[in-house]
Amino acid sequence: MDRQGSVRAAGPLRDMDLRLPPGFVFGAGTAAYQIEGAAADDGRQPSIWDTFSHTPGRVLRGDTGDVACDHYHRYPEDIKLMAELGLDAYRFSVSWARVQPTGRGPGNHRGLDHYRRLVDELLAHDIDPWLTLYHWDLPQPLQDRGGWPARDTALRFAEYAALVHGALGDRVRRWTTLNEPWCSAFHGYASGLHAPGHRDAAESVRAAHHLMLGHGLAVRAVGTGGITLNLYAVSPQSDSPNDADAARRIDGLANRLFLDPLLLGRYPSDVVEDLAAVSDFGHVRDGDLAVIRAPLDMLGVNYYGTYLVAAPDPTPPPPYWLPTSCWPGSESVRFCERGLPRTAMDWEIDPSGLVEVVTSVAANYPAVPIYITENGAAFDDEVVDGSVDDPDRVAFLRSHLLACQEAIESGAPLKGYFVWSLLDNFEWLWGYSRRFGLVYVDYPTQRRIPKSSARWYADVIRSHRDRTR
Ligand code: FCB
Repeated sequence: MDRQGSVRAAGPLRDMDLRLPPGFVFGAGTAAYQIEGAAADDGRQPSIWDTFSHTPGRVLRGDTGDVACDHYHRYPEDIKLMAELGLDAYRFSVSWARVQPTGRGPGNHRGLDHYRRLVDELLAHDIDPWLTLYHWDLPQPLQDRGGWPARDTALRFAEYAALVHGALGDRVRRWTTLNEPWCSAFHGYASGLHAPGHRDAAESVRAAHHLMLGHGLAVRAVGTGGITLNLYAVSPQSDSPNDADAARRIDGLANRLFLDPLLLGRYPSDVVEDLAAVSDFGHVRDGDLAVIRAPLDMLGVNYYGTYLVAAPDPTPPPPYWLPTSCWPGSESVRFCERGLPRTAMDWEIDPSGLVEVVTSVAANYPAVPIYITENGAAFDDEVVDGSVDDPDRVAFLRSHLLACQEAIESGAPLKGYFVWSLLDNFEWLWGYSRRFGLVYVDYPTQRRIPKSSARWYADVIRSHRDRTR
């Protein structure tokens, strides 16, 4: 990209090692609350993230999504950038609070019209819209009636899914119900780090179930659909049985508690046992698991890293630490360092885990097309002379695309990859302090500056097309 912000190759960035198969989908993603802004426009009302971000002490520096990247107004400019990148597909989410502000009843046509215009503009640029119905922004009135721990929220979600499908089903082919229900359940209701900020382990287990029930009901309502999970490769720090047990527990809560009901129609019995002190699973009704097991047209995997875990220290952590954990029933498992390089989120960089996650899903569950629906990294990007050079992000993305290739070569049905994110944006509790974008956003002016990673990604996509056409 040149300094004027258009995407044109500025040099030979060809990446000859990358040989992804024909038809592999290259995309990038965003989420409504993280980019749209326009928090009170056209009838939108607060979601749990509006309430949470406006509560002092919840988000770094008091940042909110009120304005964010102002994408609600600037989407034509942003779609132009996507087209210049050469994206096959764009993953975005619909703000429930914009299209059905109270979480029930008739839709808000001004909100729905926005998404019609957005989708039409994408299609006009030959970019496939991948719509996610829920990326964490529950209408506040539904939280006031109990939120995800309440069964009714799952029913409301199916009604909302039908509403959005009624408005956009003629032009959107790819439907995803939820983004990362693990985060909604365990950061929303157990650690309290995400909206609505509750710290109640029992609530979090009910929330996880009702999120999945809502997913199954929404797939029925839409007639097709997939789900996006954040999956982790988990390994024990040593061969000791206690460390192996720690790994089993974290793999259970992070991965199998979601994968097993969705793809096998049952809860993993060992995880149910681990959670016995927290929940008796009395909220699970006959027939729920059959609903949750609705056939998936794809499984989205958000991949950010691996967990190396160990058994609890013999001296237990202080009791005040326990209620803030996002690992109910396994609060005292230790998370260890591998000494790998880290991103600005302090997350270790480990592309090998992507291969492990994708191949193990393929080996252990019924066949379903897999897409990496998020992968990316925050680094401390800076504008120098009007440009942003981000070689660390290029190296990160490159190593993870090579990992995709390795997973495919070993037989996994991995069909595409979406960079997180198209734009720098509101990174939840970290506010605007963490930048994940291919495109830098100068928030005071809303100027977009494509980073060198954007130029690199555009070139990867172009080379792929030249090679496979
Ligand atoms: C994922 C979220 C996404 C973004 C990335 C960094 O957990 O789905 O919105 O915050 O992490």
